[in-house]
Amino acid sequence: MLFSKYFIPTLREVKEESVSFRFSLKAGLISPLASGIYSYLPLGLRVLRRIEAVVRKNMNSLGAYEVLLPALQPLELWQKTKRSDLLGEVMIKFKDRRGRILCLGPTHEEVITDLVSKYVSSYRELPLILYQIQTKFRDELRPKGGLVRSCEFIMKDAYSFDKNEEGLEKSYQSMYSAYEKIFKECGLKPLVFSADVGFIGGSASCEFLIESSSGEDNFFQCRNCGFYFRDKDTCPKCKSRDYLEKKGLELGHIFKLGTIYSEKLGAYFLDEEGKRLAIVMGCYGIGVSRLLSGVIEQNYDSEGIIWPESIAPFDIEIVCLNPEEEEILSFCFQVYNTLSQQGFQVLLDERAEYSGVKFKDAYLIGIPYLIVVGKKNFSEDKLEFIRRRDKKKLLIDKKNYLEPLINSLREKNGKVKLD
Ligand SMILES: Nc1ncnc2c1ncn2[C@@H]1O[C@H](COP(=O)(O)OP(=O)(O)O)[C@@H](O)[C@H]1O
Ligand SMILES: [Mg+2]
Ligand SMILES: [Zn+2]
Repeated sequence: MLFSKYFIPTLREVKEESVSFRFSLKAGLISPLASGIYSYLPLGLRVLRRIEAVVRKNMNSLGAYEVLLPALQPLELWQKTKRSDLLGEVMIKFKDRRGRILCLGPTHEEVITDLVSKYVSSYRELPLILYQIQTKFRDELRPKGGLVRSCEFIMKDAYSFDKNEEGLEKSYQSMYSAYEKIFKECGLKPLVFSADVGFIGGSASCEFLIESSSGEDNFFQCRNCGFYFRDKDTCPKCKSRDYLEKKGLELGHIFKLGTIYSEKLGAYFLDEEGKRLAIVMGCYGIGVSRLLSGVIEQNYDSEGIIWPESIAPFDIEIVCLNPEEEEILSFCFQVYNTLSQQGFQVLLDERAEYSGVKFKDAYLIGIPYLIVVGKKNFSEDKLEFIRRRDKKKLLIDKKNYLEPLINSLREKNGKVKLD
């Protein structure tokens, strides 16, 4: 992709307190339409797609099947579980031209249970895990922090259907480990807490949080032993009363639902002995769009975002400092073509801009590796390779740049070795 032709509307002055919101606007990832409602711009969408790919890979590999459920839902369905009252104003409702009352799905337990009730009737069809990556609507009282709490957001929601509690335990555990992998692959270090089941209901739930000032959950860290805990006035591990108060941002939430939804919506099956039983369910959410903000909250410096390689919008950015020089520009294109052919996603900044502007934008949008080609190094047959995370620099031979570069980019786990 060529920077001069691409759509990356970076901004210089943005007065938002939340780090991720500020950088999302400055780096041209998202654009506000109204409070709590955002458009994804090309760079932001690229990151979102890569996060989705990590989520999909891990859902598919635990044996979950992807579906796509309607956002538009009849309110009747929600009356069967009495959750229309429970959700209240959060749910966006309206009447269609036939007089039906519809809502925009804030979550999908009702729809999926209704679906499964129509098709699953025997123990032979269980266990079953279905998931989707889809837009949710919640009329939040206080939307904030851009994608952190918005009224329209993208969630991965998965639902497990089992014969009994042991089956549910297995599904829940496999989902738990998939969550650990997803967060790790996205460059996040989450803390896991058992949590209140809230309006979703059920018997047990775990929340995956990251420490972040833009979050709304409170937790504590013991100064004595480092243990993390919630809702207590002493550390449960060492009984110390000396602790730090922290803010957490919830990125994922998994629930053991049991049979509350299947009983209300008629999702039953016949077991091995022909006995009619309610399907035992679990539900598992990840805020995919919120995760984008969460990754920024944990990966930035004063100059901008530092994308983890796994979900960066591009793998490499070539910064051409002197595009006015024919020879330098054509060399940059040659590097661009070669790396693209090798399967890397490459951004080439060949704009007629000052070097300072290019570096500012490069550090702001946070592509993990930069190849800088400028007059001075070029005349000495060198080019500069910079790792965004620590700005560590490496001068490489311009004639033989490819092999060492590709070798290092291709190191196990794709990390470039500069140390
Ligand atoms: N308004 C929102 N904006 C962005 N992401 C959200 C929002 N509400 C929930 N999420 C994400 O969806 C995940 C699952 O939602 P859920 O647990 O049902 O929400 P809540 O914790 O608000 O009750 C959350 O862990 C969070 O990452
Ligand atoms: Mg939650
Ligand atoms: Zn302690």
